[in-house]
Amino acid sequence: MNQDLKKENSAKEAFNLIEPKLRKDSVIGIGTGSTTNFFIQELNEAKIQIKGVVCSSNASEDLIDNSYDKFSLNEVHAIDFYIDGADEFNDRKELIKGGGGALTREKILAYSSDQFICIVDESKHVGLLGEFPLPIEVIELARSAVSRELMKMGGKPIYRNGFITDNGNQIIDIHNLPIEVPYELEAKINNIPGVVENGIFANRKADTIICAKANSIEII
Ligand code: 5RP
Repeated sequence: MNQDLKKENSAKEAFNLIEPKLRKDSVIGIGTGSTTNFFIQELNEAKIQIKGVVCSSNASEDLIDNSYDKFSLNEVHAIDFYIDGADEFNDRKELIKGGGGALTREKILAYSSDQFICIVDESKHVGLLGEFPLPIEVIELARSAVSRELMKMGGKPIYRNGFITDNGNQIIDIHNLPIEVPYELEAKINNIPGVVENGIFANRKADTIICAKANSIEII
């Protein structure tokens, strides 16, 4: 089974899991990426009666069917379910996200949600986070200064050339960074002036991980 099919299965499972719990006033948070796009497909086809959606990126918002009301986070009281993919997850349901560059809004939506359901295929499972380069959103003028701090921590920063986030900032991807205690490193990196957000999701980790394998789906 190819990876796209697994991503699609995971997204379908998430939709089937939440659909019976949705009410007319429910708000769904929508992540970003190819796995989330399969979830958007399900949502668009189902045309269910909910209050609406809050999206973590302009790209996802563009894909949502116009039958759904699209809100900013400021316009809703809470997000009932936040559905998003990940670049890596560990057994504690801690994640690395931001491969698509939407990590800041993704983290805000995840933090504001009652239930964060992460949809992945088995290739995203790791023992220790950090094989995937850690994305960090930075204010442009702080890019080199932040990079130097990350080098002191043992990482190798690579500037994501030509990429601008939906917030108008830049991304540096940190290779070979040892992420032994994700919760601590998440806070430490965010303490560097000029860092907008980093892609470690440990403070607000996933509540549920739906992991599609070749012949089964594991719900963690
Ligand atoms: C975007 C993300 C994505 O969730 C992550 O990159 C996974 O993407 P995909 O579902 O395409 O494998 O964090 O910022």
